Amino acid sequence: MKKRYWFSFCLGLLVSCQTLKKEGLKDRFESDFYLGSAVNLAQVTGREPGADSLLTLHFNSITSENGLKWGPVHPKSNEYNFEFGDAFVAIGERMGAFIVGHTLVWHQQTPAWVFQDGEGKFLSRQDLVFRMEEHISEVVGRYKGRIHGWDVVNEAFEDDGTWRKTHWYSLIGEDYIKIAFEKAHEIDPEAALYYNDYNVWKPEKRKAILAMATQLRNQGVRIDGIGMQGHYRLNTPSLEQIEQAILDIHEAGFQVHVTELDIDVLPRPSDSEGADLTINYAASEEWNPYQTGLPKEIEEKLVERYASLFALFQKHADKISRVTFWGLHDGRSWLNNWPVRGRTNYPLLFDRNLKLKEGFVQTPGVK
Ligand code: GLA
Repeated sequence: MKKRYWFSFCLGLLVSCQTLKKEGLKDRFESDFYLGSAVNLAQVTGREPGADSLLTLHFNSITSENGLKWGPVHPKSNEYNFEFGDAFVAIGERMGAFIVGHTLVWHQQTPAWVFQDGEGKFLSRQDLVFRMEEHISEVVGRYKGRIHGWDVVNEAFEDDGTWRKTHWYSLIGEDYIKIAFEKAHEIDPEAALYYNDYNVWKPEKRKAILAMATQLRNQGVRIDGIGMQGHYRLNTPSLEQIEQAILDIHEAGFQVHVTELDIDVLPRPSDSEGADLTINYAASEEWNPYQTGLPKEIEEKLVERYASLFALFQKHADKISRVTFWGLHDGRSWLNNWPVRGRTNYPLLFDRNLKLKEGFVQTPGVK
């Protein structure tokens, strides 16, 4: 049933695309939630042919994939680089999109100097707070009124619900999150503010996130929503686990944002949680089995998985504000390089030629 529903949706969509040349995926979900895509530098600067029109037709929200993370946007203490950010906001405005900045405070893609003084010693709490607030003021301030929502803090918790022992946590303490949200709100009072994390479907982790967010809100801090990164696989997590997360976030009084949606179709080495995966894997057929194309039966599973997910999201459209894919098309997905570098993965709706995958279309003659 669900599968057929999805097929007819895609079919209807494509027929309308062909005839009216103006209805895209976003239009199908217009009354449900924003449909978003993460975007990169080549896409926002027009250097990737076709990206601009694909984005404009199918999406009404965009998120910065890497370009507004600390490393790219603030590489040295006295140097900011807004090339990406300016182009990102410009294309978002041309699209009339809901524009999401990702991310202000995170433990990754943050240069080592951020936490150190000139002699390489760790900063005091006070100095690190100062540096974090300065960064937030610069970045949020530059796009005040133009970036509509911010992932203020990313990934502060471990899967078991304990605090991730990042430099932010160790040098400032738990309230680094509160300070970050307060500063972002002070700089742009209109912007929506989110906490974003992966594996929110895991109950222990979700409990910790919601306790933190509820405490902030009770202290009068603005926090609008929880971003559940949707880095899913074909069989896990289950729909029930995802649904419970949606229900719990809503019940706690926060908007649900399905962020970073993609579906990994490749086998994963069992030690893939570790950081030390090497090129050895990439050379092996075993970990890169679909270099010349995705087999029909796997594509069918991918279609079925997306169909079930979107049926679930539509069922809870009253709770979900946005669903954002982590990348515009397969060729640009981070999953070509994680957890094994240099693979050919197929996690998104659009293939490497920027075409909606054939598996989503059931009738011959409709391209
Ligand atoms: C996390 C981050 C994203 C991105 C992905 C992998 O989910 O939030 O910004 O780095 O990892 O690309």
